[in-house]
Amino acid sequence: MIRAAIVGLGGWGRRLVVAVQEDGQPRGSEIHFTRAAVRSAARARPFADRQRLQLGSFEECLVDPAVDAVVLATPHSAHPGQVRAAAAAGKHVFVEKPLALTLVEAESAIAACAAAGRVLALGHNRRFLPAFRALRELVLAGELGSILHAEAMFAGAFGLAYAPDAWRAGDADAPAGGLTAMGIHSLDALIDCLGPVEDVTAQSMRRVLTIPMDDTTSAMLRFRSGPSGHVATLMATAWTWQLRVFGVRGYAVMPDETSLQVVERSGASRLFTFPVFDTERAELEAFARAVRGDETYPVPLGDVAHGVAVLEAAVASIRSGGVRMSVGGEARNPHEGSC
Ligand SMILES: NC(=O)c1ccc[n+]([C@@H]2O[C@H](COP(=O)([O-])OP(=O)(O)OC[C@H]3O[C@@H](n4cnc5c(N)ncnc54)[C@H](OP(=O)(O)O)[C@@H]3O)[C@@H](O)[C@H]2O)c1
Repeated sequence: MIRAAIVGLGGWGRRLVVAVQEDGQPRGSEIHFTRAAVRSAARARPFADRQRLQLGSFEECLVDPAVDAVVLATPHSAHPGQVRAAAAAGKHVFVEKPLALTLVEAESAIAACAAAGRVLALGHNRRFLPAFRALRELVLAGELGSILHAEAMFAGAFGLAYAPDAWRAGDADAPAGGLTAMGIHSLDALIDCLGPVEDVTAQSMRRVLTIPMDDTTSAMLRFRSGPSGHVATLMATAWTWQLRVFGVRGYAVMPDETSLQVVERSGASRLFTFPVFDTERAELEAFARAVRGDETYPVPLGDVAHGVAVLEAAVASIRSGGVRMSVGGEARNPHEGSC
C-alpha cells in the first residue's frame, strides 16, 4: 500500500481522495492518503478529519518518512516547482494537469524525477476512459483508414462561476482561456491517437465573461503524421466533452465520455456504450503500481511534455494575433505510417 499526501484540498484534491478511500478507509489495496498539505487548515479541517488525514504544510509532508508519494492538486503555475521539490525530497509524484505552462519547465520537472529515480505520473484521466481506449485502438488498428482530421470540444459554464480574482481565471495560471485547464485533456487525447503536432494556429476571445478570462478559445493543429486537427474550449455554455476522428473509411465519435459511435463511409453505424468508469481511481492505482515497480504508468512523459509544448505554442499564436507557431519537443508516434 502506497502512503500518499494530497497537496491542495480544493475541489479536485478532495475528488482524488474520495476516489480511493471512504472515511479514511482505503477502497483498494494500492494507495492510501494519510496526510494533506494545505495553506488554510481551517477550511480543510472537516474533510481532513473525516478522511483521517494529518493536516500540515507541503514542507512537513516532504520530510515525513511515512509519506511515499505526493499527489499535487494545486494551481497550474505551482506544479513544476512542487514536482522538483518533491523529487529532491525522494518522493514519488502524481501531478494534476498541466505539468507546466512551458516546455522548459515541463522538461525540468521530468528531469528532476528522473535524476532522483522517482516516478512522475500525470493526471490525464481521460486516457483511462474505456470509450477513449476503444477509439484509440480503432485508429491505431487502421479501421478508419488513413486519418484526415481529428477534433475535440470541451465546454462548460465554469467561467460564469469564477470570482474575478480566482487563480483559474488569471493569465499566470490560465493563459489561453479554457485551453490550459480543459483543452490540455483534448490535446493529450489527440496526441495519444495521432502522435506529435507540427504547428498550431490559435485564437481566443472574451465574448460574455466579465472576469479577466477568455471564454472562447480554439486551436488549429497540423500533425506531423499528416492529419489536421482542431481543439476548442468554451467557458460559458452547457457542459460537453467530445472527440471525433475522421478517416478515409469513415469516422469515430465520442459524443460523451461513455459512448463511441463508428460510422462507415457507406453510412452504416455502430454505437458502443460503456459503463461509467472512475478514471481518478484508475489513474491513482496505476500510479501506485508504477511506484511499486509492477508496471509503467500509461501516460508517457514525452507525450506530456509535448502537450505542454503545444499549449505553449497555442498561447504564443494567440498573443501574436494568430501567427502559425511551430511546436518544440518530441512525442512518440503511436502508429508509424498508419495515418
Ligand atoms: N483531471 C481533471 O479532470 C481535473 C478537474 C479539475 C481540476 N483539475 C486540476 O486539479 C488542480 C487543482 O484544481 P482545483 O479545481 O482543485 O482548484 P482549487 O479548488 O482552487 O484548489 C486548489 C488548492 O490548491 C491550494 N493551493 C496551493 N497553492 C495555492 C496558490 N498559490 N493559490 C491558490 N491555491 C493554492 C489551495 O488550498 P490552500 O489555499 O489551503 O493551500 C486550494 O485548495 C489543477 O491542476 C486543475 O487543473 C483536474
